[in-house]
Amino acid sequence: MSDVTRRELLAGAGIAAGSLAFGFPGRELFALQENGVLPAPNRPALGAAPRPCTAIILGHGGRGGLYGYYATQMPDTLKIVGVAEPLEYRRTACVNNHKIEAANTFTTWEHVFDRPKFADAVIVTTQDRMHYEPTMRALEMGYDVLLEKPIAPSWKECNDILKLAQAKGRIVGVCHVLRYSPFNVQIKAVIESGMIGDVVSVQHIEPIWHLHFSHSYVRGPWRREDLATPSLLAKSCHDLDLINWWMDEPVKAVSSFGGLRTFHKRNAPAGAPRFCMDGCPHRESCIYHAEDVYVNKKRWGTHHIETPDRSEESIRSKLRRGQYGQCVYQADNTVNDHQVVNMLYRSGATAAFSMEAMTSYGGRRTRIMGTKGDIVGDERYLDVATFNDEKRIRWDVEATGQDLSGHGGGDQRMTADWAQAVVRNDPSFLVTKLEDAMESHRVGYAAVTSSKEGGRLVTL
Ligand SMILES: NC(=O)c1ccc[n+]([C@@H]2O[C@H](COP(=O)([O-])OP(=O)(O)OC[C@H]3O[C@@H](n4cnc5c(N)ncnc54)[C@H](O)[C@@H]3O)[C@@H](O)[C@H]2O)c1
Repeated sequence: MSDVTRRELLAGAGIAAGSLAFGFPGRELFALQENGVLPAPNRPALGAAPRPCTAIILGHGGRGGLYGYYATQMPDTLKIVGVAEPLEYRRTACVNNHKIEAANTFTTWEHVFDRPKFADAVIVTTQDRMHYEPTMRALEMGYDVLLEKPIAPSWKECNDILKLAQAKGRIVGVCHVLRYSPFNVQIKAVIESGMIGDVVSVQHIEPIWHLHFSHSYVRGPWRREDLATPSLLAKSCHDLDLINWWMDEPVKAVSSFGGLRTFHKRNAPAGAPRFCMDGCPHRESCIYHAEDVYVNKKRWGTHHIETPDRSEESIRSKLRRGQYGQCVYQADNTVNDHQVVNMLYRSGATAAFSMEAMTSYGGRRTRIMGTKGDIVGDERYLDVATFNDEKRIRWDVEATGQDLSGHGGGDQRMTADWAQAVVRNDPSFLVTKLEDAMESHRVGYAAVTSSKEGGRLVTL
């Protein structure tokens, strides 16, 4: 029996028992019973680009490398002609991958702008605290921009970028890549078709997975708000963006609670040293032991551990005293590991969002309640029910045969749209324009304020 079938049967069995006891139909059980066709997304095919968009990568790390990779996969659409990256091994990789001229190769983003404009656009893939200045400078010089999320570490800076982009008439694509993943696009199509009527309410959760959180938000680049952005923005501005996109109306008020519960000094096991490799007595029982996570069991990638020598011994030596070798209960992390956000929309519709570090799984879970039907989604299956005809359709994104790599297929599709928007000088190619992305940040910063003030209602 396949995993899916087994899972479905188990889920169905549980719900069926509940249904009989309370006399109402089990929602997921019915959803399993019919397959059918959902409304098609109404987005015209891109067509071929008139010419490749030329771009300079600022920060050839994880994301910069990824966009560079897409350029190699779609050379008629995107061409990397310059790079700024302080780490020699990453800079060299970019130069070699794209045959970049020495004159277009820089150690830091500032130097790019010492030269007259030499490409259509810049790709800002530096860390969160290094988005604002390069973007502002690029816009001043007339470049279009692909800007990683979050836009900037404060609402004021987000607004500065918007105003300058508008004043200069430049295109800024924000990498809210989930708007491009076929699963989320299908949800949008169902809502737009009117199939479930008007949206009354949304429940959405981002389960981060505890191990992912321990890397990125405890040991890693996003562990402190003053070094990056609040975790709600760094991790979940995507989700706030998705919810706002589906709702398609402005948020009126926000309230939020959150905190850091797990990866905290008070939870450090007795006798645990500051660095795992200093003979931690809890090695056998601790799933976060750094040497196991990064080397022995390879449970998480080592990209963020900076060293030109990628051998196991080199990574081990970095772990002995480096930030990724710290006990997860004794690092200098401060960002929230859980946060709930309630949103009230202008029409009276509501949304409840949860960012959760402590899960054994990843993958967003979504429930959308409409006046005529509802949606249940888990990034693979989309179950859509309509009340009048009691019809229930299950749609499986994996059965569509589409390429779902990179944020459910969002990364590559967003890159292609943005490159076309730039070469055609037509922002309508973008599903996430800067103006749209501002809404997720407006709500995100309001939620951060609310949670810091004990859940105070913030009206927008
Ligand atoms: N859209 C998404 O889903 C998504 C996913 C992950 C990360 N991100 C965002 O992308 C951004 C980059 O994340 P990442 O994981 O690629 O980080 P990274 O640390 O891997 O890459 C950042 C790169 O910037 C380089 N850099 C540092 N100082 C520089 C300077 N002065 N000039 C030029 N380059 C400099 C670093 O050496 C590094 O290689 C972050 O803002 C992050 O929040 C977005």
